[in-house]
Amino acid sequence: IHVLSVVSEIFPFVKTGGLADVAGALPAALAPENVRTVTLIPGYPDVMAALRDVSPILAVDDLFGGPARLLHGRARQLELIVIDAPHLYDRPGNPYMAADGRDWPDNAIRFGALGLMAARLGAGEVPAFRPDVLHAHDWQAGLSAAYLRYRFERRPRTVMTVHNLAFQGLFPASLLSALALPPPAFSIDGVEFHGEIGFLKAGLALSDWITTVSPTYAAEIRTREFGMGLDGLLRGRTERLSGILNGIDDTVWNPGRDPLIAATFDARRIAPRIANKAELKKRMGLATDDALLFGVVSRLTWQKGLDMLVEVLPTLLATGSQLVVLGSGERNLQQAFLDAARIHPGRVACVIGYDEALAHLIQAGADALLMPSRFEPCGLSQMCALRYGTVPVVSHVGGLVDTVIDCNDMAIAEGVGTGIQFRPTIGMLEAAVLRATALWRNGKVWRRVQRNAMRADVSWRRSARRYATLYRALMAERRR
Ligand code: ADP
Ligand code: GLC
Repeated sequence: IHVLSVVSEIFPFVKTGGLADVAGALPAALAPENVRTVTLIPGYPDVMAALRDVSPILAVDDLFGGPARLLHGRARQLELIVIDAPHLYDRPGNPYMAADGRDWPDNAIRFGALGLMAARLGAGEVPAFRPDVLHAHDWQAGLSAAYLRYRFERRPRTVMTVHNLAFQGLFPASLLSALALPPPAFSIDGVEFHGEIGFLKAGLALSDWITTVSPTYAAEIRTREFGMGLDGLLRGRTERLSGILNGIDDTVWNPGRDPLIAATFDARRIAPRIANKAELKKRMGLATDDALLFGVVSRLTWQKGLDMLVEVLPTLLATGSQLVVLGSGERNLQQAFLDAARIHPGRVACVIGYDEALAHLIQAGADALLMPSRFEPCGLSQMCALRYGTVPVVSHVGGLVDTVIDCNDMAIAEGVGTGIQFRPTIGMLEAAVLRATALWRNGKVWRRVQRNAMRADVSWRRSARRYATLYRALMAERRR
């Protein structure tokens, strides 16, 4: 099977979140299932610089205001088709916004172009790269299904994966012709969403199948509480919607051979974690007393619920625990953690920014990882934590439900718990911090939980098989 994966970021070249990790890891995971994945991605500077064995496969005179080419090539293990369109993508930094933090004003056409080029490949304009399945990720790729529906006769099977329903790609209706979509596309079963153009909505309405990144989130998004206004549409497509859990790249996240940590370890040899904790404390200026060290590696946004952690900090510190935070995002949250670190030197440490190496050291050296998310489509950080024996303390939503086994009394008695779960409220987060502390003080039980965590299968294997099965089922439908 030949799949065209359409996505706006990919690890390790451009990344703002877990989407990039998924796009970067899934192709290799699918290869043993006889799926060949070619990834279509905008030609940002870092992608252009990484591209090897380049050959042009299509030239376009005018792609929304400038010339463009499709370049086929490789970057590390990935097979890519890059949209070389400097007028759209030759800009530094974050793929979505300028240095001042504001979205690029032409994001509609920047990602409309991604959808359009995907559709052209999907329709078979380059015969050597005609996919059986076009797999679009998040709103940035959402219009591909619309172009296929309204502009092309020949269509591959289409899958739309939702990584986060909060980002919908809404733009003014007046852009319809700038996006080269015909007027009939602006309808309730097309791209229209409450009077605007909805990129994600279009993908959800017009794709053959919808997936999201965990079974629990697949159920949640059909409810008003989590549906972000799209729950009605999603309920209507229940039979065409499934949840397939993400995995993590276990070559990047492997405590047994991680070059970014101070001492390697595994489920049978957990003891060397101590050296990582010491190194982490040293680097972050944390006191060396024997305290439970909580870690956070996260975007600092409302979704992640870390404002609740700020509220619970007094309790956390009162039990003698410590906290290390690595993250970036909303200014007031950044400030809140910086302030906490200043007020509680040696007990709270905070690094604002994006730091791959420090993320690994925190996963290897902290005792527990906090993720008080208000919603979480899947979450990858808690899976990295499991792999590294960092006990995840996570809210009971989305993929966190599907990946962590709460250490309630039953689970402890059965010896199966891998973490702690709580409903995302301040009170329940506080209770969870206290539960974690009590558990940690019982060294034997804690060690057992760590070992369970490290033995949990967080790889892509099972889920890659599910994607492959889905692709095959969709292709079989067509033949019928
Ligand atoms: P989301 O995609 O919603 O941000 P995920 O848990 O799915 O959340 O994925 C986040 C990914 O980004 C993980 O691989 C995590 O380790 C990484 N990450 C988040 N913030 C940082 C940071 N400040 N520095 C380094 N890595 C980070
Ligand atoms: C989104 C979600 C996160 C998920 C990631 C990859 O960023 O917020 O929960 O793990 O996509 O699917």
